[in-house]
Amino acid sequence: RRMLTKAASCVAIDVRSSVSSTNTVLKEIAEQGGAEGMVLIAEQQTMGKGRLGRSFYSPKGDGLYLSILLRPQFSAEESLSITTAAAVSVAGAVEAVTGERALIKWVNDVYLRGRKICGILTEASVDFETKGLHYAVLGIGVNILEPEGGYSEQLRDVAGALYHRDDAPAGVRIRLAAEILNRFFSFYNALPERSFMEEYKQRSLLTGMEITYLRGESVQEGRVLGVDDEARLIVQRGDGETQLFSAGEVNIKKD
Ligand code: BTN
Repeated sequence: RRMLTKAASCVAIDVRSSVSSTNTVLKEIAEQGGAEGMVLIAEQQTMGKGRLGRSFYSPKGDGLYLSILLRPQFSAEESLSITTAAAVSVAGAVEAVTGERALIKWVNDVYLRGRKICGILTEASVDFETKGLHYAVLGIGVNILEPEGGYSEQLRDVAGALYHRDDAPAGVRIRLAAEILNRFFSFYNALPERSFMEEYKQRSLLTGMEITYLRGESVQEGRVLGVDDEARLIVQRGDGETQLFSAGEVNIKKD
């Protein structure tokens, strides 16, 4: 177990000006035997990847596009919370840097001033025999500056950034990276203890809100009662029944 081995930490940071996707490149490095704790940061991604097969808009110099190579000693099930721990790390880091409250929209999006400023994508390679992980690549994308000319029509309603183009303090990208990495590795080294869950619950954007979600073809409505210890969303449906969601996507109900 981890307690008998060396604690994981950031062992090297490789910064590149442009890559397809920091996750894709770091997965190749992982396949070639790269060490746990390697971090890859790019100033731009030409094929940034989001969840559910979407793309992640990653214009040059406007964001922090970062991936971390992990070789978890935990079970695959315990490793699922890598992304949850990362969301709490980013929210805390954003709050430390900006001085403003950052919230987490279930499952793992980080929000500032009501807008999504960070997405997280974890990709893992599973060993079919042992059910353990060969490696996991944790990818974090934070919008630091609003893009020149603003967001596209498609992103305008949801996406936000930490700063307007002229207001960003010097060195904010590197400061944010350090704040994220410090927080993340301390959670990761004790991942099965789930010490980040209290903070996750406190930062839950959806708690108390009316939401809509897709169930098959139909749009359902509910009210979020909270998040449980396994990071499942507790939803009270229209018919009064309470339901637990362990994965998926929900939207804030518009009135
Ligand atoms: C999402 O919001 O759907 C997840 C976005 C994840 C984006 C980050 S940026 C660094 C890393 N490399 C990628 O291609 N994606 C992740």
